[in-house]
Amino acid sequence: MTHYSRLAGTGGYLPGPPVTNDDLVARGINTSDDWIVTRTGIRARHLAAPGQTSCQMATEAALQALDMAGIAAADLDLIIVATSTPDYIFPSTACLLQGALGNRGATAFDVQAVCSGFVYALSIADKFIRSGTHQKALVVGAETFSRILDWQDRGTCVLFGDGAGAVVLEAAEESGILASALHADGSLVKILSVPGQIAHGQVTGDPFLRMEGQAVFKTAVRVLTEVARECCAAANLAPADLDWLIPHQANIRIIEATGKRMGLVSDKVVVTVDRHGNTSAASVPLALNEAVRDGRIRRGQRVLLEGVGGGFTWGALLFEF
Ligand code: ACO
Repeated sequence: MTHYSRLAGTGGYLPGPPVTNDDLVARGINTSDDWIVTRTGIRARHLAAPGQTSCQMATEAALQALDMAGIAAADLDLIIVATSTPDYIFPSTACLLQGALGNRGATAFDVQAVCSGFVYALSIADKFIRSGTHQKALVVGAETFSRILDWQDRGTCVLFGDGAGAVVLEAAEESGILASALHADGSLVKILSVPGQIAHGQVTGDPFLRMEGQAVFKTAVRVLTEVARECCAAANLAPADLDWLIPHQANIRIIEATGKRMGLVSDKVVVTVDRHGNTSAASVPLALNEAVRDGRIRRGQRVLLEGVGGGFTWGALLFEF
């Protein structure tokens, strides 16, 4: 029997009050609201409180998504967390989340694809459900990037924020997720990385996020356009058939360039980067949750999600809500 997966619920969590660009200046960072807004479109971000973890934020987002879906945590049979900022080296954040939710027995694991992580994880969950082995999946993107930023590096520290977003997927007889496409190019490792590790009780290498901004910018616009077209073609749809585009929220100029290349008017593109900054794997599910909960995305509409990030990784997923 053919199984499809459909989105049954969404959730999102942002820690604390917004931290504006002027707040960063007041904290001693040598930048300005004008520079950040002009180059990136970012006006504010949320930052986790000391001790607040990716799993804690994931739990808040997951509970909202489960509530909307009307599904009990105990009934989940698959839990996937996309994160590059896990609470522990091990166990996975997915297992920590499973424990926090009180679920026992579900398949649980993390996906590490940086800012593409949520699109990777949702596509993986869809494949589990389509295979017929699993029926109820929780997919979360959760990040505390503020902990891996070099706050002395104004070229990166102003760009990111913390948060978590979640989706509950369930098996259905009608189509929900229509197509997905995932890619990576390991020759581009160096343009965006945290090139450190823990060994023998010490951090070795560099534990902070390093980025070649212009190389990331150019690569992101190219691959996001390519993968959007690939995903639409796999679903036998044209970009004009989309009701909504939800791209990774890194930079308004990348978002606008991608929308323009796809021929989409800007009011079909969901934007949160102005208020969230770049929350890596949390950015797409946070934007999705916002547009579902404020009534923009309605049942029956077609939505394209897109991720791009370190690896270099990129991917897209097209669903009918
Ligand atoms: N405030 C003020 N000035 C700054 C800041 C800052 N926060 N950061 C850098 N500058 C200065 C630089 O020192 C430099 O000054 P100089 O000319 O005197 O040397 C000048 O601004 C230009 O710096 P560039 O790095 O060349 O600026 P650029 O126009 O490339 O913009 C940016 C940088 C915004 C990072 C851009 O390259 C970009 O958006 N790249 C995309 C990367 C991205 O979005 N990454 C997010 C993560 S990746 C992902 O999620 C896929």
